[in-house]
Amino acid sequence: MPLRVRLTLWYGSALALVLIVFSVVLYVITARNLRDDVDQSLEETAATAVRSLEERGFLPLLDEEDLLSQFPELARIDKFFQIFSPSGTITIRSPNIKRHEVPLSRKALETTFNGQTVFETAKYPNEPQLRLISVPINYQGRLLYIVQVGTSMESIEDTLRRFLILLIVAVPIALAVSLAAGWFLAGRALRPVDAITLAAQRIAAGDLSQRLTMQTASDEIGRLAGTFNNMIGRLDASFRQIRQFTSDASHELRTPLTVMKGETELVLRRPRPLEDYHSVLESNLEEIDRMTRIVDELLFLSRADMGEVKMELLPVSLKTLVEDIHRQATLLGQDRMIEVVLGTVMPALVQGDELRLRELLLNLVENAVKYSNPKGKVTISLVTDGQQAIISVTDQGIGIAPDDRPKIFDRFFRTDEARAHTKKGTGLGLAICSWIAEVHKGRINVQSELGRGSTFTVTLPLAPRPA
Ligand SMILES: Nc1ncnc2c1ncn2[C@@H]1O[C@H](COP(=O)(O)OP(=O)(O)O)[C@@H](O)[C@H]1O
Ligand SMILES: [Mg+2]
Repeated sequence: MPLRVRLTLWYGSALALVLIVFSVVLYVITARNLRDDVDQSLEETAATAVRSLEERGFLPLLDEEDLLSQFPELARIDKFFQIFSPSGTITIRSPNIKRHEVPLSRKALETTFNGQTVFETAKYPNEPQLRLISVPINYQGRLLYIVQVGTSMESIEDTLRRFLILLIVAVPIALAVSLAAGWFLAGRALRPVDAITLAAQRIAAGDLSQRLTMQTASDEIGRLAGTFNNMIGRLDASFRQIRQFTSDASHELRTPLTVMKGETELVLRRPRPLEDYHSVLESNLEEIDRMTRIVDELLFLSRADMGEVKMELLPVSLKTLVEDIHRQATLLGQDRMIEVVLGTVMPALVQGDELRLRELLLNLVENAVKYSNPKGKVTISLVTDGQQAIISVTDQGIGIAPDDRPKIFDRFFRTDEARAHTKKGTGLGLAICSWIAEVHKGRINVQSELGRGSTFTVTLPLAPRPA
């Protein structure tokens, strides 16, 4: 069921319930008030009659005319009265009782006999109800008369009937008007949702450049649109990235294949001395190593993306690690007379996976050596500030241009300077480094000046001290 229909129905049901309860309560209270008014006026009239009789010293009344001339206040059109003897027989009654005998009921007789006033409602078929009050008049401890005043409930019944009709007509009209308004408002409120749906359909059809334009930015719908736009933006970016990545990966793998194919074809063109085959195979082996490395690193990254790389969380002594890496790096630098030195090295314990951390540092140090000039110097240091361990690897090599700095952590990105400097490299090392830093809740920063050298800094949180 559409949201608009559901909203309107909910709203309508709630409103209907409120209106019905309200009407019933209103009707009941009004009916009660009107009846109370009648009773009160009956009581007052009866009291007047009793007072008049007392003033006259309870002289026996002769007939109707006598009565009316004595008590003009009793001759009210809307009321009738009767005076009964203690035995319940009518001694006198006002002339406006026309239609019926209204005898004194048994209950009235008994109650008045006990000296109490009683209210009653008398019903006759096809006629308005009568409301009656019966009041005893005692004289010297003896029941003398019973005065009964009555009135027709016709006007009250009329009023209540009209009121009921009014309610029966007005409530559905109010409900209908409110439902129409609710329907309209729900439609208005939901219109932007339709706009979002349409836009989402266009986007789903493949146009990721589409964005939602909403004027109201701060309400729920605006926030939804904003979130939606953000999501599409990120999807767009990651699709682009995937496309870029695929093309980069194919390109990186094709280069060594082209080299191998070219060399192999060339050497096979005519018979050659054994050394030629040997050297081609050697060169091929180099390319195969390179491809193997690319594929290994890609595999690692894709497993990392899918969250499939297992990580140990154990205390790792960074000092030991840095010293190990220093030894390895010294060997790496030997060929090109690059000196690898240790700067300050403080003891530091972090929580993590030693193999991964080693990989991270080795990648950075390898880069530093690789992008150094012959006879350059690489410095590794490790300091702590109580919260974090900071490892820095500084070289005096080719450096990185400011524009390239944010991109070097992207997969396959290599600067032109780096490509010119050495053929070795896949452009995947730093991507792996930043992933490792991230899973250790750390980060990598780079400071660099083109042609002057670079400093890579890894910041890792220290392991919590045992309490
Ligand atoms: N120490 C460094 N000096 C200069 N450039 C660097 C250094 N380390 C990394 N880079 C740049 O960052 C790029 C990405 O590094 P990396 O992902 O390790 O790839 P690779 O080492 O395979 O080239 C490098 O190609 C290079 O352009
Ligand atoms: Mg590298």
